[in-house]
Amino acid sequence: MNATLAPSLLETLATLLGPRGFTTDPADMAPWLTDWRGRVTGAAAALLSPAHPGEVQAIVRLAGQARVPIVPQGGNTSMVAGATPDKSGQALILSTRRMRAIRSLSAGDNVAVAEAGVILSDLHDAAEAQGRRFPLSLAAKGSATIGGLVSTNAGGTQVLRFGTMRALVLGIEAVLPSGDLFDGLTALRKDNRGYDLRQLLAGAEGTLGIITAASLRLVPAAAARAVAWVGLAETEAALALLRRLEARLGDTIESFEIVPAEALRLVLAHVPGARAPLETRHAWNLLIEVTAPEGAPDPQDALTAALGDAIEAGLAQDATIAASEAQAEALWKLRESISEAERADGMAAKHDVALPVSAMPRFLIEGAAEVERRFPGVRVLAFGHLGDGNVHFNVRPPIGANDRAWLESDGGAISAFVHDLVGAEGGSLSAEHGIGQTKLAEFVRTASPARLGALKAIKAALDPAGIMNPGKLLP
Ligand code: FAD
Ligand code: MLT
Ligand code: ZN
Repeated sequence: MNATLAPSLLETLATLLGPRGFTTDPADMAPWLTDWRGRVTGAAAALLSPAHPGEVQAIVRLAGQARVPIVPQGGNTSMVAGATPDKSGQALILSTRRMRAIRSLSAGDNVAVAEAGVILSDLHDAAEAQGRRFPLSLAAKGSATIGGLVSTNAGGTQVLRFGTMRALVLGIEAVLPSGDLFDGLTALRKDNRGYDLRQLLAGAEGTLGIITAASLRLVPAAAARAVAWVGLAETEAALALLRRLEARLGDTIESFEIVPAEALRLVLAHVPGARAPLETRHAWNLLIEVTAPEGAPDPQDALTAALGDAIEAGLAQDATIAASEAQAEALWKLRESISEAERADGMAAKHDVALPVSAMPRFLIEGAAEVERRFPGVRVLAFGHLGDGNVHFNVRPPIGANDRAWLESDGGAISAFVHDLVGAEGGSLSAEHGIGQTKLAEFVRTASPARLGALKAIKAALDPAGIMNPGKLLP
């Protein structure tokens, strides 16, 4: 694609969007040119912040005529630099920060219609205020936006019970690369009119269009929740405990997160006020959340009894159950601070891998041992969503190494090694973060020709000029 960024294009956009919607000021743009992990920095011709879908359509039409790339951006919390422009300076960042209305929220229909720039925690609050809840959460909930969450088919800490973002999106409004507005917002539970564009745009990482709003499934607010932190000696016990709890508590288990001792140590070292939840250090820890609707037995009692039996049976070494909301929040803060603590500790070769759940306990031990044997001195930090078979299998540099230089020199070989181990188990190199640009080479290396060919054909059909987030998801 030959991007020709005529000065007149920028003038036209500046006039169209006004000072609140258009800037080329380097200081204004700088925070949005680097990915959250600080790994990739790009450049942009302008930062555009349209106020409504009509302005998005005008931008897309103008960029299409000029064949200028657009990088859609929400909260810029992507873990694969999916919202970071390349270094050419030709791209336009299209931020959804000004499209932040919750257009409707119906407790009767259990549906919310949120614009793309709505921040996840704001949707949580709006739903709670009406006795409902949007059952997807993640540590970036204070920054991640609905548009980004849909676009990456985000997962988070409640997938075990409610699935990923795809399972929660009922409809999508989006501006397609043609500039047309796809008016797919619906509260209908059934709608069989041809290919499912909603599911095509979900997980497309901004490469097939700009999501401007989504209708989202809500569930009743939980009447009560029980949150426990459990200490274990080894990972097989974690899976045995999950199955044991499921037998006793059914699908009321909403979160089942695994945390190695080293992750907890990092959090305690880098997060002010963080306190160790158990007396002694355990090689592995679990954060478990169970909820209950109105009128159901108290989850606190059920979880206490189940964990007591698990300790009796030698599955768990120790456990504590939050006695208040404040204590529950403090336990969650330990889990949700791992990424920040890891970032404070330096660069890492990050892997967001999915495996059959039953393979994960062994992989956490044997996979880590193989990586540390093959790359002497590196340290694996593996944590995350054990319940749904997704773990963040991050590899940190040898102590004392220059982390950026190490990542540049060794990161590629390490990721290829990890992804081949995952592939041998029938797993995926991307469970929830998407491909973006940091996983693109590995995706191309490991994907089948049939998969890549089909994705490229869809991309060519919808975005023939290739203006939508080029260099992400597909070469
Ligand atoms: P951005 O980072 O701005 O963009 C993400 C992608 O979506 C980019 O490709 C961008 O081009 C595209 N995009 C953004 N908005 C639109 C739009 N309106 N239309 C079309 N494309 C768009 N992810 C998980 O899945 N699970 C987790 O548990 C999790 N935990 C995290 C914890 C931390 C501390 C951080 C920093 C990130 C975490 N993430 C997690 C990753 C990240 O939060 C998700 O990928 C999230 O969906 C990104 O939302 P965002 O609004 O920040 O999108
Ligand atoms: C998480 O589960 O905390 C995230 O996906 C972030 C990460 O991978 O660091
Ligand atoms: Zn995660």
